[in-house]
This record gives sequence, structure tokens and C-alpha cells, in this order.
Amino acid sequence: MRAAILASGNGSNFEAIITAVKRREIEMDIAFVFSDKPDAFVLERAKNHGIEAIHFSPKNFSSKGIYEAELLHLLEEYQVEWIILAGYMRIIGPCLLEAYPQRIINIHPSLLPKYPGLHGIKEAFEAKAEQTGVTIHYIDAGVDTGPIIVQEALDILQTDTLESLEEKIHQLEHQLYPKVLAEIANKQKGAVK
Ligand code: GAR
Repeated sequence: MRAAILASGNGSNFEAIITAVKRREIEMDIAFVFSDKPDAFVLERAKNHGIEAIHFSPKNFSSKGIYEAELLHLLEEYQVEWIILAGYMRIIGPCLLEAYPQRIINIHPSLLPKYPGLHGIKEAFEAKAEQTGVTIHYIDAGVDTGPIIVQEALDILQTDTLESLEEKIHQLEHQLYPKVLAEIANKQKGAVK
């Protein structure tokens, strides 16, 4: 399974994935890490792991379509088969969706369809929800919609603060994302044989 990781920020999910790849727990070859933010820490993490780190900003393109066409060009050049979103905070447009149908995977820090968007953890916390969790799903044209692959719930305790909840969600993400990607990579290998 040859994949590119798209991320906009810290990259702790990328770190969990690359760690599992290096331990041979996921049969995945990471072609590159791409960020739409030049100062995203994920780019440092990629370089530290010897993975190519590429960035350009949509602001430098006249339209989203042209930005994505440039990204697609890169994906094709590196013969990428799967796109893994790990905190990539942009809606995927038709250009990439058409080129990678059912081949773009996202992780989101809530039990979708609850709390989509940029602030999934905070919104669940502020809503005083009893439970929240993590969703891994295929991407479609909506914001954090698309067929769900797996969800895992966790309780929000009376004693939780926003910070403690964030910490618990991230821990869950770091377990769940590598596990699900390993399963997809295995299925993929079976399908290719
Ligand atoms: C993760 O919690 C991920 O679920 C979330 O961004 C964070 C990235 O953290 N994604 C979304 O909210 C997508 N709508 P990381 O950069 O440390 O991996």
C-alpha cells in the first residue's frame, strides 16, 4: 500500500503511523508527507524520519481546483495509491475525489455525524456530552462525512477538563489509526494477489 500523508498541524497521528510502519505493523510505504501549512510541525517530524516533506499553500494558487491539480500531479509523480489524512484541515475537492475514489481516509476526533469540522473535541466537551470518541472514514464531498470504517467511543467523565479529554482522544487516535490502516493494507495485499 503506497500512501501519502496529508496534514496541517502537529502530526502526532503521522508519528503514530510512521512508528507502526517502521515496526512493520503496517505494510505501507509512505511516499511523502504533504502540508498546506509551511510551518506545520508534521514537516519536521517527516524529515526526522527520513520521509520526504513537501508543502505549498492554496493561497499561492488562483483557485482550489488548480491547487488540487498541483497536488494530484505530485501524487501521480510519486505513484501514490492511497491518501491518508491526518489532521488535514481542508475539504477535499472533486479533483482529488475523482482521482482517488474510496482511497482517501480521514480520522476525526468525535463520533460522527456528531461534531464535524475543526473543533470536534471542544464541541463535545462544551455540549457536556456523556460520550465522544474517534471516527475513521472514507472521504466524500462533505465536511467529515463519507462511509464510516470504524468508530470507538470513550466516556467524558465529570472530572475531565478539555485538556484531559484532548489527551484521551489523541491516545485513542494513536492506537486506532495504525490498527485500521494495517487492516486496510492487509486487505489490499489480499486483493492484489
Ligand atoms: C486529530 O485529532 C484529528 O482527528 C483532527 O486533527 C487532529 C490532528 O492532530 N482532525 C480533524 O479534526 C479533521 N476534521 P495531529 O496533527 O497531532 O495528528
